[in-house]
Amino acid sequence: MKIVLAYSGGLDTSVILAWLKERYQAEIIAFCANIGQEEELRGLRAKALRTGASKCYIEDLQEEFARDFIFPMIQAGAIYEGQYYLGTSIARPLIAKAMIEVARKEGAEAVAHGATGKGNDQVRFELTVAALAPDLQVIAPWRDPEFRRRFPGRSEMIAFCQEKGIPVQATAKKPYSMDRNLMHISYEAGILEDPWMDAFAPENKDMFKLTVAPEDAPDKPEYVTLDFEQGNCIAVNGRRLTPLGVMKTLNRLGGKHGIGRVDMVENRYVGMKSRGVYETPGGTILHFAHRQMESLTMDREVMHLRDSLIPRYAELVYYGYWYSPERIALQAFITETQKNVTGTVRLKLYKGNIMVAGRKSPVSLYQPAIATMEADPTQAYNPDDATGFIRINALRLRVAAQVHAATQKN
Ligand code: ARG
Ligand code: SIN
Repeated sequence: MKIVLAYSGGLDTSVILAWLKERYQAEIIAFCANIGQEEELRGLRAKALRTGASKCYIEDLQEEFARDFIFPMIQAGAIYEGQYYLGTSIARPLIAKAMIEVARKEGAEAVAHGATGKGNDQVRFELTVAALAPDLQVIAPWRDPEFRRRFPGRSEMIAFCQEKGIPVQATAKKPYSMDRNLMHISYEAGILEDPWMDAFAPENKDMFKLTVAPEDAPDKPEYVTLDFEQGNCIAVNGRRLTPLGVMKTLNRLGGKHGIGRVDMVENRYVGMKSRGVYETPGGTILHFAHRQMESLTMDREVMHLRDSLIPRYAELVYYGYWYSPERIALQAFITETQKNVTGTVRLKLYKGNIMVAGRKSPVSLYQPAIATMEADPTQAYNPDDATGFIRINALRLRVAAQVHAATQKN
């Protein structure tokens, strides 16, 4: 049997690799998607092979991640429960898709992942496999009672590694779990499980990797311009960039100015509440700038319709339905709404804040001549028309008020 394992090089997936090999008497192929986790990838291949993998694939998917996943999600304005920019959620379908491709190439019967049995990631991963490769078997060791019996805690995992000669990091385990990619870093579990614990307190400064604390950010604001074409950012400060280049540039800028930190309690798909801390520097800037661009160029009704669908779209991404017919249909609508979202936004970044410093567009729908309080040379809007407009719209309010006033008297 051949199994492709989503491998990160951490303790869990190292143990899973060696354990799977034994339990299934299988050949294990390690797979790691490079989606911007940076230094975490160092030494990975050698480690996978030493741990018992027959092969290790490390695929650079950063450009695809930015272009085909992050950017379409930004166009949709997606934020989960009003706060979460979905950095982990949006990465999972891509990792699973790329892994399926490796499984096909290798003729593997199964794919395996190290997500716990209590979270969202298992769902995202397995819904993607169901949608793209329904015949592939999925192995989730954390849901296997035998695996859980064998490894009730971290110490058993470390002992197992020592016994097998699997290199384990000498560094002390971080008292929380992290997930890093181009869009964000998420922090969960461990000391963060107490929702009263102040993640932004000075003594917890070292946890954050992508952003400085707003109070440590430069005292001087920095201006940045973003050019958009059909809802996609194509240049920063006048320099044309690929989606990956945009993400990297904005991550650097946002990080420097302490932008994009979020601490929230969210609703997991599996029913429980969970506390998460996030830093999404570039994504937060992009989101803000994109909304500014839309404010100038998007029709009111199209915008309100799209906005009404944001919670739904965000839910689809969060729950793991990227490759569902409803998300794909919704995306076609989003693409249509973006065709005039073109122009330039200027922002001021300052101590954790983003402020707009200007926006312009060759297809701006904002017409100062019409909106002006001064005499309107275009005559496009006649204030006399407003009298009837208001009278007709007020009719039902007036009727209801009169009826209720009459009945309440008695
Ligand atoms: N709560 C976030 C989400 O569901 C982050 C999950 C983090 N995942 C992880 N494997 N560390 O998208
Ligand atoms: C996990 O359970 O593996 C991480 C958290 C999540 O998926 O929600």
